[in-house]
Amino acid sequence: MSDFPQFPEGFVFGVSTAAYQIEGAPSEDGKGPSIWDDFAHRKGKIRGGVTGDLACDHYHRYSEDVTIMKALGLNAYRFSISWPRVIPEGEGKVNEKGLDFYSKLTDRLLENGITPFPTLFHWDLPLELQKKYGGFVNRRTAELFADYSEMIVRRLGDRIKNWITVNEPFEFSCFGHALGTHAPGYHNIFLYFKVLHNVLLGHGLALERIKGIRPEASVGAALSLTPIHPASGSEEDGRAAALANQLLNDITLQPMFNGSYPEPLWSKVRLLRPSVREGDMRVISRPVDFVGINNYQREFATYKWFVPVLHMDLSGKDIAEHAYVKDGVQHTSMGWEVYPNAIYESLMIVKNSYGNPPVFITENGAAFDDAVSTDGRIHDGLRIDYLSSYLSRVSAAAKEGSNVRGYFAWSLMDNFEWAAGYSKRFGLVYIDYPSQRRIVKDSGYWYSDLIKAQAPKGHGSAMRLNN
Ligand code: GCO
Repeated sequence: MSDFPQFPEGFVFGVSTAAYQIEGAPSEDGKGPSIWDDFAHRKGKIRGGVTGDLACDHYHRYSEDVTIMKALGLNAYRFSISWPRVIPEGEGKVNEKGLDFYSKLTDRLLENGITPFPTLFHWDLPLELQKKYGGFVNRRTAELFADYSEMIVRRLGDRIKNWITVNEPFEFSCFGHALGTHAPGYHNIFLYFKVLHNVLLGHGLALERIKGIRPEASVGAALSLTPIHPASGSEEDGRAAALANQLLNDITLQPMFNGSYPEPLWSKVRLLRPSVREGDMRVISRPVDFVGINNYQREFATYKWFVPVLHMDLSGKDIAEHAYVKDGVQHTSMGWEVYPNAIYESLMIVKNSYGNPPVFITENGAAFDDAVSTDGRIHDGLRIDYLSSYLSRVSAAAKEGSNVRGYFAWSLMDNFEWAAGYSKRFGLVYIDYPSQRRIVKDSGYWYSDLIKAQAPKGHGSAMRLNN
């Protein structure tokens, strides 16, 4: 019997990335600027004063990166399509060279038996739309997102059958518009719920368009889900945790699955709420084929000053310098607690509270202080421990009825970690940035061995993904 956790027949094993974090080539072949191209060049916004101008040079090295995925035995790859690379101004003229990049990437993946699983919006909004409309502050941008999504699916939908509309509406809305630590860098709490609503609306409008032209497509969204625990057993902290769970988790899951915003949170934030038009919630809650869940950790909440105070670093400014152990518990170099049950709890929330839809773990992984050893390898045992413990809990959730269909490790390779720049390494593949050399870490080989160790379950492992 294998020591590796076992998963249902057809379970998908992949990795995740995002365009701005890996591609580079910010203006090559007609690409337009994104809000992240603009934000990263603003002084003081990114640790180390770096940008994604080169990142992992994936725009030029994608073929090598697919070869690595093939060698590791991965059967799916979640990447994101850069909206301004294919529609430089966000609306109107299509940039054929930009579209050609994703067409070639798709063909290369399919040639290697790897199912493409693209995200249509992973935060890199066309800068022109930010300037012209105020970005997702304006619901016009939600409509333009649907236009862009339809164009992509018309052009690539003959080969791509699985689509993720948006990535983490909560983080994009909160970090980018309330905290100002992510692009577009607004610091205005009155924008948060408005942007969140418009991103969810964009998801629903795009979903409708995709299904209208490709009814057979499998479409979902990738949502963060971080279980919030009370910091103490007090009733007040219990209430604080319940409210924080609504603010961080139910705020996206409930509109998508139940067509409403969570109460009592929604009543409490009445002064901050956007105008919800007749029909919006029907669009947002159009049935998805799956939900993507991004989970890394749990967080704690304490009741203070009549509001839940989260212990998490929402700002991205106080990210830890290095991994550490506190009270006997390992923390990653992001300062995130290693708490494997967080992913189990997340899957059980989706199962028990949202109708047990097909779910993919679209992100899970850990940043540690990786270095190349004298033998030329990266012995990242802490990451292997992290992946093994979290994947064991995913396996347990599947055995207990979760409709989990796959797991995408964050990330294929070290990359641009937003406000933290290149100071955090999440990859299964080490990037030596000066040379752009790729070195598969021990965790990459471990993940490959886990995939190989999946015992056959009856008549071959037919992929559950449309491919
Ligand atoms: C997110 C983003 C990823 C991050 C990853 C590590 O979840 O914040 O989707 O782009 O890089 O989660 O923080």
